[in-house]
Amino acid sequence: MTTPQSNTLLNFSAGPAILPATVLEQARASILELDGTGIGILEHSHRGPAFTKVINDARDTCRVLGNIPDDFEILFLQGGASSMFAYIPLNLLPEGRTADYIHTGAWTRKAIADACLIGDARTIWDGESCSFRHLPEDGELQPTDDPAYTYYCSNNTIYGTMWPAPPAATGTLVNDASSEMFSRPIDWNVHDLVYAGAQKNLGPAGVTLVIIRKGLLEQSRQDLPSMFRFDRHAEQGSCLNTPPTFGIHVMGLVFKWILEQGGLEAMHDRNLAKAAKLYESIDASGGFYTGHARPDCRSTMNVTFACPTPELDTLFLAEAQDTGMRNLKGHRSIGGLRASIYNAFPFEGCEQLASFMNDFAERNG
Ligand SMILES: Cc1ncc(COP(=O)(O)O)c(C=O)c1O
Repeated sequence: MTTPQSNTLLNFSAGPAILPATVLEQARASILELDGTGIGILEHSHRGPAFTKVINDARDTCRVLGNIPDDFEILFLQGGASSMFAYIPLNLLPEGRTADYIHTGAWTRKAIADACLIGDARTIWDGESCSFRHLPEDGELQPTDDPAYTYYCSNNTIYGTMWPAPPAATGTLVNDASSEMFSRPIDWNVHDLVYAGAQKNLGPAGVTLVIIRKGLLEQSRQDLPSMFRFDRHAEQGSCLNTPPTFGIHVMGLVFKWILEQGGLEAMHDRNLAKAAKLYESIDASGGFYTGHARPDCRSTMNVTFACPTPELDTLFLAEAQDTGMRNLKGHRSIGGLRASIYNAFPFEGCEQLASFMNDFAERNG
């Protein structure tokens, strides 16, 4: 039997992305039979005791892992991270109020466009003119007066920028953490809603993890259809309709795996060390590689860089492919190269890419 992970190849995909091999093994077994129940996870009723245990365990483990206070609700929703672009203003942006958006990339652009369809969403910092190479400096945000919430994206998957710390915003703070969720600890004193699509750090595509302060549920609009109301999902324990049962199961296994690795502090240290390997190769290349993100905003999850010419990028990809490295092409909107090195990506894989980068620069510089 082959190992249930394509670990003969190094998968630098931006998402869906690499998952821990042990989790995949557990998931494979649970498809045939879940925990001695005689029935597989895909076939269990979402109302039965076996799945109830799965979702309760996933929620409890999430709380422990994320050090999430009791006054936050943990929801497992569907529709991907993009559904939150509408959910959030629908629920949290009443008429007569503004919502402040910090525009740091393609995903905030979409979030802003959707929010503008629903209410008075304002862009309080715009990174278009710097090609999203950096994030706002202290004092550059131009907040509106008493916004319903401030929205930001803590890791910009396409551009490879990551907020070293949350923005200084007073009031309700919302974070799209899709491409870095649980890559490091989260400060619950400043955040009120943090959400993430699963398919990068948390599990299979199809589940959206939403962690929301309970006080916000009470403020939610009451005149929305049930499926679009955070409070309805919370009341029903994320089982308002049939939830993505398999995805929630795998997410729970990933939470346990992160805990076994030492939790979020340990994960953060590991992620910093992994990313440092690649940034060292960029910085030591004598200008051969250009990093997209300004050094003070560099992501630990998505390392974006380019060779001196698009032809060399193409050669880089072809040679990397020959040595078993996959999915290093940059996003079509910025070109170049991107190495996505989420939690499950091994340190040794970063060492391997770094040494390939050094060698490639040497030969082609
Ligand atoms: C930061 C960020 N937000 C939102 C999304 C959209 O996610 P989904 O495809 O789950 O809607 C992505 C996808 O890559 C992302 O990276």
